[in-house]
Amino acid sequence: MNHPAFWRAGAISSTAVMAVVLIFLTIDSLSAIQAGGRNVPDYSVINKAIGYQFDAKRAASVPIIGGEELLFGRKYSAAEADRLMDHGKLAIQSRACINCHTFFGNGAYYAPDLTKAWLDPVWKQMWMPMTQSATKEEAMVKFLMNPEKYPTWGRMMPNLKLTREDSEAIVAYLKWMSAIDTNGFPSGFKTTESK
Ligand code: HEC
Repeated sequence: MNHPAFWRAGAISSTAVMAVVLIFLTIDSLSAIQAGGRNVPDYSVINKAIGYQFDAKRAASVPIIGGEELLFGRKYSAAEADRLMDHGKLAIQSRACINCHTFFGNGAYYAPDLTKAWLDPVWKQMWMPMTQSATKEEAMVKFLMNPEKYPTWGRMMPNLKLTREDSEAIVAYLKWMSAIDTNGFPSGFKTTESK
């Protein structure tokens, strides 16, 4: 078996087989991780109530998608939700929020993890009364536009000059993100419901 042709044929055929496997796995992963895919709700989930419940079998908290719940007092069509998410993502990228925060494990831990920020009980407990807002989303917008006015923590978030439109889009993005099953990530995140 010292013939070079044998080894060449082996190398070429195993490379070809692995290339096919890799293409298959890539397509399969993309279909699982895209909004509206197997593991990620589509953007219209921003029109629904999102809960978070501990699942003992999985030893992880799992998002529970409930019935209709308006965001900013309105229901978004699929096209509107798409536009809102694009805007939210661009606002988040342009201000480099990940320099301080974490999304899905990417970013920093100078400031709270934002993967489940929509579900943080602190909005109801502190920011709604502090900003005199009737809804959580309104409190989030007021905080995002003027974080230096409404501190709740030892560290303060700087004012990033977000407009009302930027802030609404970011809130919608955070709501969608909280509906994604991240297998309990970030661990230790507690909502009043999941305790
Ligand atoms: C320079 C660091 C820094 C940057 C950049 C930053 N933040 Fe913050 N952020 C903070 C700090 C610190 C807090 C905690 C403030 C508090 O509770 O008073 C915070 C709190 C928050 C909260 C509340 C989280 C919770 O559940 O308590 C949200 C939401 C948020 N930031 C969103 C954003 C978004 C969106 C961006 C980008 C547009 C951003 N932040 C950029 C430092 C930062």
